Amino acid sequence: MAKTKRRYICAACGGVSHRWQGQCPDCAEWNTLTEDAPASVFSMKHDLSSGGRAFEFVPLDAPSEPLVRRSTGLAEFDRALGGGLVPGSAILMGGDPGIGKSTLLLQAAASVAQAGGKVVYVSGEEAAAQVRMRADRLGVVKAPISLASSTSVRDILTTLGRDEPPALLVIDSIQTMHSDTIEGAPGTVSQVRGCAFELIRYAKESGCALVLVGHVTKDGSIAGPRVLEHMVDVVMSFEGERSHQYRILRSLKNRFGAVDEIGVFAMEGKGLQEVANPSMLFLTGRDEPLAGSAVFPALEGTRPVLVEVQALIVRLQSGATPRRAVVGWDNGRLAMLLAVLESRCGLNFSTAEVYLNIAGGYRLTDPAADLAVAAALVSALADRPLPDRSIWFGEVSLAGEIRPIAHAGLRLKEAAKLGFERGFGPSDVKTGSSRLDYAGLRQLPNLVDRVMR
Ligand code: TYD
Ligand code: MG
Repeated sequence: MAKTKRRYICAACGGVSHRWQGQCPDCAEWNTLTEDAPASVFSMKHDLSSGGRAFEFVPLDAPSEPLVRRSTGLAEFDRALGGGLVPGSAILMGGDPGIGKSTLLLQAAASVAQAGGKVVYVSGEEAAAQVRMRADRLGVVKAPISLASSTSVRDILTTLGRDEPPALLVIDSIQTMHSDTIEGAPGTVSQVRGCAFELIRYAKESGCALVLVGHVTKDGSIAGPRVLEHMVDVVMSFEGERSHQYRILRSLKNRFGAVDEIGVFAMEGKGLQEVANPSMLFLTGRDEPLAGSAVFPALEGTRPVLVEVQALIVRLQSGATPRRAVVGWDNGRLAMLLAVLESRCGLNFSTAEVYLNIAGGYRLTDPAADLAVAAALVSALADRPLPDRSIWFGEVSLAGEIRPIAHAGLRLKEAAKLGFERGFGPSDVKTGSSRLDYAGLRQLPNLVDRVMR
């Protein structure tokens, strides 16, 4: 009989290795390898070409049921989902601890229940009394939700199998679940994968919408194997800075809709409030222009959101290595932009500490933010404020050119609506009907001239 080989799977990247090591050879994370349940060994001689059940093929244009979605009762949640919950689908909801995942799902569960759908909420992390306390705080304690505190997938599926399936099943969280048919402690890769598989199968068979809460590791990926992301239909991430009020719900993968729409919420004393018009949220709203501050019109799906980019430059006297710290933007991109400013514009950042912050706990991913960051940096270095009521956008190339970006017209229109008067960006932009005074810049040195002049 063939000897079963031990396999170790990395909890961070899902990489497989055949001996245990302290560091994953694929993603270089430490202490993430855990032993996988032994794969069942079957003979290679086994013939798979007979003995199965033959099925009929169907034409691509065969008539099918139209997709009926169920509203979560929260318009921002529905928007991020691409229109609501799809029956029989599985959603993975990731986010940092304490960001508000349980709060969001309890609110959604309450609305679905109040609208007449059957809802089961299983918490593996908190006792039923704790969930009830939260519901009390949210003012939804009267909602007809079936609540349970359990970590056994077998118990959960046995209980659910007794009567009609729910419209919505929430499992908070998948890392706390365990199945007695799989080896390993809860939270290990094989357990998380096996439990998710059973729950997803139940969802597909019964037609209930399943939401799995997933913890997130410090680098932002959903803990547990990457395979979980392949197993579900929708991967969502609930983001924000815990110290700030605003939360963004983003879908990273969606088999039933686009992934560029976001939902915006504010965490308040009575739970998450929807923010229907987020374009002004991340602006500080000060009247005096300040050196080192630039406004960038970001685009989230189809909605413009204006955000403030703040830079601080501190000259060092000694020869110590200067720090570069970034909150809300990409570190590597800042290094690149500083290098371009140094080599193409002759500015000197090498003896200065550089701090960059995106206001309001917002995380910028739009490449069009380059020019706004450059403007904030140059303005901080020169210690001169940028022109009053101005916005900045454009991608910066390594050669220092300012490249065109998507949806410039939409960004300008929204900025004009919010009282901005001047726009700076790539040179070939159709300003459309916006009332903004627009100046096209070809090269980064043009920006430096504007600020230093
Ligand atoms: P929670 O939903 O438990 O986060 P997660 O499930 O993602 O770990 O939310 C935790 C935080 O939200 C907690 O620190 C308190 C805060 N909060 C409010 O500010 N207002 C509220 O009404 C509720 C229920 C929570
Ligand atoms: Mg929670």
